[in-house]
Amino acid sequence: MLTDKLPVITIDGPAGSGKSSVGKAISRLLGFSYCDTGAEYRAVGVICNQRGVDLEDPLACAEIAAEFAAGFSINKPGGILYEGIDLSELIRTSEAGMGASLVGRHQPVREILVAHQRTFALEGCCVIEGRDAGTVICPEAIVKIFITARPEVRAARRRETPAEAIARRDRIDQSRTASPLMIAPDAIEIDSSDLGIDEIANHVHSLYKERMYPR
Ligand code: DC
Repeated sequence: MLTDKLPVITIDGPAGSGKSSVGKAISRLLGFSYCDTGAEYRAVGVICNQRGVDLEDPLACAEIAAEFAAGFSINKPGGILYEGIDLSELIRTSEAGMGASLVGRHQPVREILVAHQRTFALEGCCVIEGRDAGTVICPEAIVKIFITARPEVRAARRRETPAEAIARRDRIDQSRTASPLMIAPDAIEIDSSDLGIDEIANHVHSLYKERMYPR
């Protein structure tokens, strides 16, 4: 290795941009572990709702996040197991997406989840996917990707979520003061609208090899 960057690939972007599919494909291609940070925010939102915690209350949500961070495990890429219960399906509803966006506004919640995600990043050889992976979780990643797609393509990919709900989530994620969704200065922007998942994954794989092992 001829670089002081970390052997980590970060993938950020809005809902429906294709980042999960691409992230999973890259992790398979390189044999890297995979961290879906959105799944963690989703799980915290779902647990808050189950326990009647107000999603507007930063400290109450942070208490749940702390309990969650201490006890959850990942049973498959993008899946979550907590207190012996598989939350993987429950966290994929559009309500869970909105709940995640709401709890993700709170800095105390972010600090707890980011601490765990950063520990994961420091182990290296991983793909981290989210909104702040390249800006906050792992600014030292050797490859940072920011994936976008045209609005109609994103809406078609999230058929179960009304277009207004996606737009509302975008507004919350981009305008919050705590780590808003933004492109890192050294990220490569990819519009996935007309590209195949494997095509993007192969491109990112090549970039990774070039940067890790420059000639
Ligand atoms: O990637 P996703 O759609 O599963 O994310 C759900 C929500 O979680 C997203 O709208 C905002 C929040 N989130 C976040 O605030 N920070 C992250 N790193 C990942 C997700």
